[in-house]
Amino acid sequence: MVFCILLSLFSLFTSAISSSVFVSAFSLVNDFHVLVSLKQGFLSPEPALTSWNSSNPSSVCSWAGVLCYQDRVVSLDLTDLDLGGSVSAQVLRLDMLTYLSLAGNSFRGGIEIANLSSLQSLNISHNQFTGGLDWNYSSLSYSLQVFDAYDNNFTALLPLGVLTLEKLKYLDLSGNYFYGKIPEILGAVFQQLQWYDSSLPWPK
Ligand SMILES: *[C@@H]1O[C@H](CO)[C@@H](O)[C@H](O)[C@H]1NC(C)=O
Ligand SMILES: *[C@@H]1O[C@H](CO)[C@@H](O)[C@H](O)[C@H]1NC(C)=O
Ligand SMILES: *[C@@H]1O[C@H](CO)[C@@H](O)[C@H](O)[C@H]1NC(C)=O
Ligand SMILES: *[C@@H]1O[C@H](CO)[C@@H](O)[C@H](O)[C@H]1NC(C)=O
Ligand SMILES: *[C@@H]1O[C@H](CO)[C@@H](O)[C@H](O)[C@H]1NC(C)=O
Repeated sequence: MVFCILLSLFSLFTSAISSSVFVSAFSLVNDFHVLVSLKQGFLSPEPALTSWNSSNPSSVCSWAGVLCYQDRVVSLDLTDLDLGGSVSAQVLRLDMLTYLSLAGNSFRGGIEIANLSSLQSLNISHNQFTGGLDWNYSSLSYSLQVFDAYDNNFTALLPLGVLTLEKLKYLDLSGNYFYGKIPEILGAVFQQLQWYDSSLPWPK
């Protein structure tokens, strides 16, 4: 009898360990560490990010701008929070993100979003990002639908890699200093977009 009880206690214990609760709690802690390190790269994160309490990992899903689904961070919305500083490459470890907006802040430096294969919407508009957008788009090619990079300081060749984004419906690269030309044969891809920047040299 005692053995039986012990056995069922044991299996309760092991099933708790192997269940997604344990696994995803570990990943949520990972998301927590990523957000804490992002905040460290931001200038003037207070008062907007006061709720981002680095001594309280279990509160992460109630932090300003953070949305969770099934114990993972799936959305990060930092729109118009007057943040400065830079966006650390740590953001690439938020591997369940479907929505990311950094729009309307004063972020500087480069940014690279390469391997977030669930990301559907990316808004980095109205910042002061520099460099280019010549990323490896292959991980984004079946997810990214919205890409808004309007009004930054990108100075580079047009990122032709965006042409491989099969789900793309909205693209705005205007308000930057991109140069170069879209090859005519690829221009047709953009006829399916709801919107694209007509000031760029897309073929007619
Ligand atoms: C942060 O969380 C810790 C641990 O839960 C708590 O003691 C502290 O009061 C919190 N700080 C703020 C500013 O909410
Ligand atoms: C994405 O890349 C970053 C940096 O190279 C890495 O730390 C992270 O684990 C990668 N994420 C996925 C989902 O591959
Ligand atoms: C991106 O964010 C800005 C807010 O700064 C907003 O005006 C714009 O509509 C957003 N873009 C998209 C495609 O939703
Ligand atoms: C781009 O990323 C994919 C998937 O992560 C990888 O297989 C490929 O080698 C990368 N391409 C380049 C040029 O780095
Ligand atoms: C961005 O461009 C504007 C206008 O050209 C310039 O005033 C500003 O200093 C640039 N910012 C950065 C971070 O390069």
